[in-house]
Amino acid sequence: MQSTAGRHVVVVGTQWGDEGKGKVVDWMTDHAQGVVRFQGGHNAGHTLVIKGVKTALQLIPSGVMRDGVQCYIGNGVVVDPAHLLSEIERLEKAGVEVRSRLRVSENCPMILPFHVAVDKAREALRESSGSGKIGTTGKGIGPAYEDKVARRALRLQDLKHPDRLASKLRDLLDLHNMVLTGHLKAEPLDFDTVYAQAMALAPAMTPLLADVGYALHQAHQRGDNLLFEGAQGTLLDIDHGTYPYVTSSNCVAGNAAAGAGVGPQMLHYMLGITKAYATRVGSGPFPTELAWETEGTVGHHLSVVGQERGTVTGRARRCGWLDAAALKRSMIINGITGLCLTKLDVLDGLDEVCMAVGYELNGQRLDILPLDPDEIAACKPIYETFPGWKESTYGATSWDSLPQAAKNYLKRIEAVSGVPIAMVSTGPDREHTIVLRHPYKA
Ligand code: GDP
Ligand code: IMO
Ligand code: MG
Repeated sequence: MQSTAGRHVVVVGTQWGDEGKGKVVDWMTDHAQGVVRFQGGHNAGHTLVIKGVKTALQLIPSGVMRDGVQCYIGNGVVVDPAHLLSEIERLEKAGVEVRSRLRVSENCPMILPFHVAVDKAREALRESSGSGKIGTTGKGIGPAYEDKVARRALRLQDLKHPDRLASKLRDLLDLHNMVLTGHLKAEPLDFDTVYAQAMALAPAMTPLLADVGYALHQAHQRGDNLLFEGAQGTLLDIDHGTYPYVTSSNCVAGNAAAGAGVGPQMLHYMLGITKAYATRVGSGPFPTELAWETEGTVGHHLSVVGQERGTVTGRARRCGWLDAAALKRSMIINGITGLCLTKLDVLDGLDEVCMAVGYELNGQRLDILPLDPDEIAACKPIYETFPGWKESTYGATSWDSLPQAAKNYLKRIEAVSGVPIAMVSTGPDREHTIVLRHPYKA
């Protein structure tokens, strides 16, 4: 089937998440009729700022703040129904209509309380045994994806069948309780409580359930432009990231099709979101990390000016220079069409700005992030240094108004990544955006 109708953009993070995807998705929804999440869960934290008012989203697509935009949660997302309903309520209290505009795939695997218990108990065990914790968000994401792949997950559609739900839940809870009490030395969960909690959510959840893949096909046929909103980032991808310090889903653009339930011919433009520097929350190798906890350092400047604190867990994000050799891998894996550079304004006022263009490893030069975690950890970045700029870029909306030094830095990112810059973000607000080549018009 050839796509002739709507035009569709995939937005993915090219680093370790928190690149500013939510801001960019919200900005682009004036050109889209639907926004789709296709992987991850409420481990994501996407912050939008509209005329100074902040909204933090975890599971609901970042199109929700634009009237009339339809929101979809695809089959590739793991859904905690209790969290979803509380997020809907929070938005509806703030006057945003959600239920009539949100459709959730009935195939989504459910995150239930025992997934959260296993996630947290495992992290505690890793920490106490000295094997090093991953630093998960503690939302049950990993255990829920494990059940999906093991073909024993409870899916949202099970909420429509109380008896089926009860029988599947009994088996699944037995298994998790064995792990919790045996291996993890944690408390078991009670079947009646978990079952009653799930069934209590069913009346509010079931009206939201739909065949999302088919709904997207129909939207495409009627000419809707769709936006596929990635969560996390390429370097947290379960296959391509810095394993095992990754999340449990494929965050790359190719998964937008499988995780939304559409064909890959519907993915027309891959927009890679890249922070003008780098951050990472949780454990794992980070070659360009700076001493961001030390006052008076550049790393501390990035942390403070960039307000680098996670919205989901409140943890400080580790900060460092942009890593163009890691970016190169992201460009290849995602097939990035255009880049959106975010948080340029955070670099304002620095004397100089650095970017890693390769690494030194065992006396050899590498020009791309290696695959082996021990090698990544041992990589010494090779930096290019650029003169900084003293002028403020905060809120800039035109390329011409940027200082020449900032333009030079951006042009170099374009050259080393081999991908044109389509947009530059210069502040958290929807309006703080420079457009060079609009992804929906390209
Ligand atoms: P996401 O997970 O990729 O959606 O990113 P987050 O929302 O977790 O983190 C990005 C943070 O930076 C949010 O607090 C945004 O409001 C903010 N932000 C986004 N773009 C810019 C920008 O260009 N400049 C500044 N100063 N802040 C930005
Ligand atoms: P957004 O969409 C940044 C990180 C966690 C941890 C690892 C595994 O806001 O960019 P998990 O709970 O997924 O099993 O944790 O992944 N992580 C994120 N880091 N941004 C995110 O999402 C993240 N989602 C998960 O910190 O290191
Ligand atoms: Mg985030």
